[in-house]
Amino acid sequence: MKLVKHLANLGYGSRKEVAWMFREGRVTDAAGEVLYADDPLEHDNVRVDGEPLDPPQGLVLVLNKPAGCTCSSKDRGRVVYDLLPPRFRLRDPALSTVGRLDRDTTGLLLLTDDGMLLHRIVSPKAKLPKVYEATLAHDLRGDEAALFASGTLLLESENTPLLPAQMEVPGPRQARLTLHEGRYHQVRRMFAATGNHVEALHRPRVGGLDLGDLAEGQWRALDAADLDRLFSTETA
Ligand code: URA
Repeated sequence: MKLVKHLANLGYGSRKEVAWMFREGRVTDAAGEVLYADDPLEHDNVRVDGEPLDPPQGLVLVLNKPAGCTCSSKDRGRVVYDLLPPRFRLRDPALSTVGRLDRDTTGLLLLTDDGMLLHRIVSPKAKLPKVYEATLAHDLRGDEAALFASGTLLLESENTPLLPAQMEVPGPRQARLTLHEGRYHQVRRMFAATGNHVEALHRPRVGGLDLGDLAEGQWRALDAADLDRLFSTETA
């Protein structure tokens, strides 16, 4: 691939805009030598305005999602993409969220431009555990853990029961759930089925990956070791 197309695909501008960047001498190699639009692609050796390039295709990000933003770029209002460099919205292939968290759910959200990887993460076969910490409006009844573990709970307007889920109870209105699937508003609907209401929801972990010291609203790119950790719980 030509360098000009690579930079356009990374969101540095349209083909035309990137061509201008070359003419202006803004694209150099690591030693400061000016590069040209047709030069062969050596991603790690390219600088734009002296800065290394954004990661190439195959990017996986982990974001500590704050409340108040949604996962769809089509939604009105604040979206998770607003927390990333504006250039990331222009990447081709596009960066997509791996599944979704509701507007008011916080915590670990993955984004990737790698369709195969996305499928592997969300695949029902992989059954990557997703951990959720819920704060409830009412005290737990006491039978929720057994109900969620039973594999028989049928959510409203669905015809397949939920897979067994594990629940720990850190406090009378606190629940730590481990799910092995991801249905629409699943945690909120599970507690609604028990007559309760989720007031706050946080996801600290997916597979073997947790947020570490990533502050709310912050993101970082995953490396190969992170991906190994993510899939370390894979069962298929
Ligand atoms: N379950 C929910 O109800 N909401 C989320 O955001 C994730 C899981």
